[in-house]
Amino acid sequence: MDLFDAIPKVELHCHVEGTVRAATVLELARKNGRPLPTTDPTELYRYHSLDSFLEIFWLVQSLIADRADWARVAHESLLDGAEHGLRYRETFFTPARHLAGGQSLAEIVAGLTEGLEAAEAETDVRGMLICDIDRAYGGSAANELIEQLGELRRAGGAERVIGIGLDSTERGVDPREFADAFAQAGRLGLRRTAHAGEDTGPENIAVAIEALGIERIDHGLAILDDAALTRRVAEARTPLTVCPNSNVVIANRYTRLEDHPFRRMRRAGLLATLNTDDPAMTDLDLGREYRSVATALQMPWPEMAAVALDGVEASWLEEVDKRSMRARFERELAATEPV
Ligand code: ADE
Ligand code: ZN
Repeated sequence: MDLFDAIPKVELHCHVEGTVRAATVLELARKNGRPLPTTDPTELYRYHSLDSFLEIFWLVQSLIADRADWARVAHESLLDGAEHGLRYRETFFTPARHLAGGQSLAEIVAGLTEGLEAAEAETDVRGMLICDIDRAYGGSAANELIEQLGELRRAGGAERVIGIGLDSTERGVDPREFADAFAQAGRLGLRRTAHAGEDTGPENIAVAIEALGIERIDHGLAILDDAALTRRVAEARTPLTVCPNSNVVIANRYTRLEDHPFRRMRRAGLLATLNTDDPAMTDLDLGREYRSVATALQMPWPEMAAVALDGVEASWLEEVDKRSMRARFERELAATEPV
């Protein structure tokens, strides 16, 4: 196994719909009678900005039509992660489009849960779920989603869903629109995170922290533009789930990985973790994410080992589980360290 694949990893920023294998995309399109503009994945996954990427992301989402499809994508997603050192993932799913199309949250979550359980039985990877609000659907759809999630939890049907998030288009949407939904999720005992500062400046990060009460920040790239905010987030040890390759390819924020601020974020004292975002749509995997970042940003082995351990710290595992995962990672990192 490659050195970077062998690093034990936690992943906290990965959208299950962005992990669907190209072959599965074609099969789901055929099964569900949905025409694709092209059957060539390199043609399909062509975009030049976050919003043009989202058009394709939404197309792939629309191919997931029933419980069996959800189970399949969750299963394959975790198996594919396992090949590159993944040990634990908190995976996003974004059901707004499916709910609007008549699917039920209960069936979606049941399918995802089945898929995760099947993968757990075949590998030593564990998976939990984060239910994302799609910003494009607005505040009232978000309130409705959290209400449904609350009902499902009360009925015992959402044990794998440990938190909520907020994704999709960032420009022109005020995060405050989702304050009620986030407050309600907090009352339900769900953890909270949000995509912020991926496609906008640091003000969106500050608003998400203040208005939504988030405990993690997804992307958060713009944070270094605000020194006071950087200090505050670093001191609070609020984790950032950073996706450097995605930021080059999807958000087009940097022309080269070498220009990405990931290492500077960590040097500023931020708890910045490494993640793939939408690996199947960006020809990526978690081993390649670690390898390419280590090379482009000249991060030596001890720094990459620290990144892997920070993934454990930033997770929403119970303290006792964090401690045992950390001990296991330390043992495995010591065994993989190059001499
Ligand atoms: N959904 C999937 N990937 C995303 C990203 N990078 N930003 C916002 N929403 C997303
Ligand atoms: Zn994302």
